[in-house]
Formats: sequence, structure tokens, C-alpha cells
Amino acid sequence: MNQLLAQLEQYKKEIETSIVSNKEDLETFRIKYLGTKGLLKTIMGEMKHVPVDQKKEAGQLLNEFKVFVESFYSELSAKMESSESAIKNEIDISLPGHPLPLGSRHPISIVHNKIVSIFQRLGFSVAEGPEIEDDWHNFTALNLPENHPARDMQDTFYISQNPDWLLRTHTSSVQIREMQKNDLPLRIICPGRVYRNETISARAHCFFNQVEGLYIAENVSFADLKQTLYFFVKEMFGEGVKVRFRPSYFPFTEPSAEMDISCLICSGKGCSVCKRTGWVEILGCGMVHPSVLDNCGIDSNKYTGFAFGMGIERITMLTYQVKDLRLFSENDVRFLKQFTQA
Ligand code: PHE
Repeated sequence: MNQLLAQLEQYKKEIETSIVSNKEDLETFRIKYLGTKGLLKTIMGEMKHVPVDQKKEAGQLLNEFKVFVESFYSELSAKMESSESAIKNEIDISLPGHPLPLGSRHPISIVHNKIVSIFQRLGFSVAEGPEIEDDWHNFTALNLPENHPARDMQDTFYISQNPDWLLRTHTSSVQIREMQKNDLPLRIICPGRVYRNETISARAHCFFNQVEGLYIAENVSFADLKQTLYFFVKEMFGEGVKVRFRPSYFPFTEPSAEMDISCLICSGKGCSVCKRTGWVEILGCGMVHPSVLDNCGIDSNKYTGFAFGMGIERITMLTYQVKDLRLFSENDVRFLKQFTQA
């Protein structure tokens, strides 16, 4: 029995060290060990010479050996197959890999960044606040008490009544929060998303992005406001663009104005974008109403300030001559990937 055991160990070693590197080798291996005249059959045939009392034990050993040879063979052929299929697929490792498409900045982000950087150069810093606001910060503190008719100027999404939560309709609410800190002089811009309950069309959406600005110090005048905005327009749209101010009304500024620029599409000659007027409105502005300063605990006898607010979508449409603002929120990559730095 010991002799048989030693013999089988010997065969095992031989099998384990056999070199099988291609299909022919594999077939030779199969014939040598598993074929009809192969080793396995031959040793199995020897069983009949084993004395009866040793048959059981010998049978067990041979069986184990059989399982070993068979599983060794199937492992070898599996390996062979997988390396063959790699060759079949013809992997050419010298070819360049699949390119990863490079993303691009959203046009609104590009213009947002540009607006922010222009005002940063003038010493404005960025302030942010919550998109879910209370009635006081969005309306009351801005000189729009309850039932004030001007509340209808901005159709509001209300969330709850008591307490009064709503989606901010402008980032003026952030200006209120900053003024309440009473850290004067104050020179900030407030970029952010705002919401209005408007029917979605090529020119209006129920959400859009704004940048509002605020400067509060002693002796701030309307002249400061105009110069700041002139500088902004020149930096944003170039030297050749004309600017005009029209008197307007906002409850939180007095006096108030709207600023137009000469139409970039038709250079002021008149087209559908400027409704044949040659001018496009880009922002509202004015001197901060004394009641707003008082509401935030700022002494309106000592301090004055100006404020302005613009929609980033409108500026982006003018910059890139996009005629439908719905494109900005539809996430069509073919549209979005066309924009490079403004
Ligand atoms: N808050 C105004 C709006 O959203 C814009 C504005 C800001 C007007 C500051 C004047 C002064 O329409």
C-alpha cells in the first residue's frame, strides 16, 4: 500500500510540473493521463492485482488521484480558453484609450463668475443666504408691509402661513441679513437662485439666478451708483455699449431706476430682442430707502447706500445671444457644451 501511495505522489509531482503552454500541449496532457490508454486507466487496471483485504483502501487512494488529475486538467483548459479569447479580441495595448468626454461650465456659471469677479475688483465681497426665507426678510423689512400692493410685483411661492415661510423672490433678503449685522461700511454682492410663480416661457421661468449689490457707508450718492454700474457694463459687455437710466419704482429704494443697455444683437438699430427699441433693460437699482436702513437698525441720518439687482439669465442671453431661457435649465448637453469663457 505504501508503495502505491509513493507511486501516486510521484505521478502527482510530475503532473503539477508538466508544461502546458498551448492547445497541443493540453491535448497531449489529456491523452497521457486521461486518455483510453492513459495513466489513469492503466493504474485503475492494476486494481485487479490488489489483494482483497487491501482493495478498499487502494480504491480510495486511486479515486482521490482520479479527482486530482481531472480537476487539474479542467483548470488548465479553462486558463487556456481565457487567454485565447484575449488574443481573439485583439487587444492592442499600444492604441490610445477611450477618451473621457471633458465637461464644460454651465453658461450661467460662466457669467455668474464673471459678474462676481468684476464687482470683487471694486471691493465688493460675496454674501449668501437661505433660499427658504421668512416673510420679514423677503418683504416686510424691505419696506413691503403686509397687504402692500407692490407685493404683487413678485408672484411668490408660499410654503407655510404661520410661521410665514416662502421661497425667496429676490436676494434682497440676503442684503437685509447682512445689514442686520451692522458691520459698516458694507459693500456686498448677493448671488443666488430665486423663485417666482410665473408661467414658464422663452423670457420667464419659475426660478432664475440673480446678483444683487449693496453699498452702505457715509455720503454714498446716486453718482456712486451710476459709476459703479458704468464700470460693470464696460467690463461685462465692452467699451462700445451705451447705457441709460430710466426712473422706476421699487418699495425698498428711493429714488429708483432701471438701467438699459444698447441692444447687443442689433447694436441699437431695433430687433425682436429689444422689441425694436434698440435698448434692453438689464437691472433695477436705487438709493436704499431710509425705512429699510431703520428696519435693520442702521442710523439713516448718518448712513446712505445704493442697491441694484440683475438677473444672470438675462445677462447670459445677451452675452451669448440665446433667445430662450428655458434652454438653461433643460440640461441638453449639446447646448451646454458650446460655451467657453465670456
Ligand atoms: N430686488 C429687485 C428685484 O428682484 C431688484 C432690485 C434690487 C431693484 C435692488 C432695486 C434695488 O426685482
